[in-house]
Amino acid sequence: MQADYTTLAKTIESLTEGETDEVALMATVVCELHHADERFDWTGFYRVTEPGLLKIGPYQGGHGCLVIPFERGVCGAAARTGAVQIVPDVEAFPGHIACSSSTRSEIVLPVFGRGGRLIGVLDIDSDRPDAFTDRDACDLAAILAATFGKL
Ligand code: SME
Repeated sequence: MQADYTTLAKTIESLTEGETDEVALMATVVCELHHADERFDWTGFYRVTEPGLLKIGPYQGGHGCLVIPFERGVCGAAARTGAVQIVPDVEAFPGHIACSSSTRSEIVLPVFGRGGRLIGVLDIDSDRPDAFTDRDACDLAAILAATFGKL
């Protein structure tokens, strides 16, 4: 089963209507995303807790590393550049941080609030190689903008 992003967007919008707490929003988004797509083996947020530093937020899947500086990993690259990272082969990504030895591919999107404030990143890992597409990036970014863009 692969994500139906149109339905997901409507469901998340309905579940989070009127909510402005970042952690509550993250927990809801992660829960809905993770269970919507069999490619998603780890789904979670890392939050900007101080300049140049990410700390783990709500997630689904095995344990994730707690702290990621912007200089490290795929998450750090997304936070540092403000650009979506689609990694078809994590072993080919310099400095990839492996929280699970089964991860083969990854997508990480920056999460922006009002005025382009970087709130954190959304990280989705798959045990399948080359699991993510530009369509995933576009539709996930739209869900993130709709959910967090007003904060
Ligand atoms: N793979 C990420 C680290 C987070 S764990 O995968 C949950 C990275 O390289 O930044």
